[in-house]
Amino acid sequence: MKMRKRKKNVQQIFDPKKMLLSEDSSFPVREAYKSLRTNVMFTLPGGGSKCIGVVSANRGEGKSTVAINLAISISQANKKVIVVDCDMRLPTIAAKIGINGKPGLSNYLAGNEDVQSSLIQHVEEYGIDVLASGDIPPDPTPLLISEQMNGLVKLLKDYYDYVILDFPPVTVVTDAVIMSGTVDGYLVVVRHGLSEFQKLKETFRQMDFSDAKVLGVVYNGKGNRSHYSKYYRKNNHYYYYYDEYYQKSPSESKSD
Ligand SMILES: Nc1ncnc2c1ncn2[C@@H]1O[C@H](COP(=O)(O)OP(=O)(O)OP(=O)(O)O)[C@@H](O)[C@H]1O
Ligand SMILES: [Mg+2]
Repeated sequence: MKMRKRKKNVQQIFDPKKMLLSEDSSFPVREAYKSLRTNVMFTLPGGGSKCIGVVSANRGEGKSTVAINLAISISQANKKVIVVDCDMRLPTIAAKIGINGKPGLSNYLAGNEDVQSSLIQHVEEYGIDVLASGDIPPDPTPLLISEQMNGLVKLLKDYYDYVILDFPPVTVVTDAVIMSGTVDGYLVVVRHGLSEFQKLKETFRQMDFSDAKVLGVVYNGKGNRSHYSKYYRKNNHYYYYYDEYYQKSPSESKSD
């Protein structure tokens, strides 16, 4: 009974915006993203702007969260950055940030919208620009391999220092790897306690097969327990109560 109650509290408290980088983020989280930013900048040296793809093997490993937070961190280094939601099947970028999800990328690729004037949204709160996914098309893959998409990335690279593309998972659809000719480098997100070795191996095999340049692996979610604990300590008495309730006192332990 009590286990169920605790799970519900975790979901209630973690609204999507809480996962985004802000002044309220804990010091380790801010440092982790600074270090990710630095590593990305060093692994993609040379002049000109860069296009980074964020992928993972499976759903829910943290790609979109990492894509947005990396963009925020890059913007904090006074670089111009845009996040493009290329997950036109199950888009989440707009919802996470709290902006309109449509029209967006799919509408532009279908030839219905002018990208510069109407589709790019500036998010003042995070200092980033976003191109949301748009209406969900019946088959997004052909849209992504189109000349139109290639041209769009070139256009964005003319203006932004970093173009970050958020993709669906590699073992589910080929959308991410088919763009390897356009993307300068990919980050592979691995989620603590969730990612599976075989699926990850398959991801790297597919990326290798497509000549995709892997910049590195982002290990997401390690240390969440202490993050949750800190949050609960500040905001939710029940959690403490729960922990204390179940924690045996030294005298109880001895009597076991
Ligand atoms: N480090 C983390 N700690 C706790 N929750 C996290 C962490 N990273 C991501 N999440 C949460 O996990 C869920 C999945 O994250 P996210 O949407 O970023 O993953 P995704 O890989 O983009 O998923 P999808 O493949 O469905 O697009 C979200 O609810 C997000 O808030
Ligand atoms: Mg996602």
